[in-house]
Amino acid sequence: MSGGAEGGERVQELTLARPDDFHVHLRDGAMLRAVLPDTARRFGRALVMPNLSPPVATTDDARAYRAAILEALPAGVACEPLMALYLTDRTTPQEIARARASGIVHGVKLYPAGATTNSASGVTDITRCFAALATMEAEDLPLLVHGEVTDPRVDVFDREEAFIDRVLIPLIERFPGLRIVFEHITTRQAVAFVEGASSRIAATVTAHHLLYSRNAMFAGGLRPHMYCLPVLKREVHREALVRAATGGNPKFFLGTDSAPHPRAAKEASCGCAGIYTAFAAIELYAEVFEAAGRLDRLEAFASLHGARFYGLPPNRERLTLVREAWTVPREYGCGGQALVPLRAGEQMHWRLKD
Ligand code: DOR
Ligand code: ZN
Repeated sequence: MSGGAEGGERVQELTLARPDDFHVHLRDGAMLRAVLPDTARRFGRALVMPNLSPPVATTDDARAYRAAILEALPAGVACEPLMALYLTDRTTPQEIARARASGIVHGVKLYPAGATTNSASGVTDITRCFAALATMEAEDLPLLVHGEVTDPRVDVFDREEAFIDRVLIPLIERFPGLRIVFEHITTRQAVAFVEGASSRIAATVTAHHLLYSRNAMFAGGLRPHMYCLPVLKREVHREALVRAATGGNPKFFLGTDSAPHPRAAKEASCGCAGIYTAFAAIELYAEVFEAAGRLDRLEAFASLHGARFYGLPPNRERLTLVREAWTVPREYGCGGQALVPLRAGEQMHWRLKD
């Protein structure tokens, strides 16, 4: 990675190997066409979440979804979709073997049933997945986890910590060879757990969990566009995430969890979880690393650690950010509906160089 200034001056330009987004929701139909260009402009590869309705549960589904994404890619933009299967109570070892052999499926996603958007077909009881998980362990196909318990007796803010004790630790004991990505971690407990675990356990960290604490959800009133799952946590947790992401440990890497929903679905009596960040994803992470005084470590987090975990070479292309203020649009269009981005109407500090 190279900066454009010397000594104590502020870096004005930042060039890094083109990053990858190892956790993104691209949706389908009009929303896919609206959001894909934002991800494709920035990232060499995108690991695409399978929580469509119906879910991407088979290798054939993944193949069809991948074709739809490639079809929606703007001309002249190269971004490789990496597919994930949606784990259900009925996923068979044969399906796992097929996914592995396809070469297009890079992980299998565990959504506890009821944990989040389109998780109704998710796993009701992890023991039902033991045969599939054993095959994933044998075939070295990583498990990607939405790490929250759904037990209504557990406080929403404690669901990630409870998941570590109730699900993750027993899972690792039973399948010690299974590689696991603890997705979008939000707590200092998750950071400590991943740091202390074997090299087979890694985690993605979103830009929004690095930039905001839960106060942002209630600043002057209820802010539905700051609502996501796992929900934003206390400032101490945000600080632990920043230390992990900027600390140089290869277990932590970039996954935006950019999750677009139309404005009407967010501003509702029961609004959807999800924050749209793909429009400026790497620019947002640059702010985090700069505030931590670690712009020099952005490239490793964004472009190297994740690729290494997934056994992929780093992208050979490069991407340059320039220090330049701009105002985020109040909304983007998507098939006649509106999509409200993170920081709508507010300032950004980095811009992608054309
Ligand atoms: O905030 C979220 N939105 N968290 C998830 O786990 C799912 C995602 C979505 O698909 O909207
Ligand atoms: Zn997600």
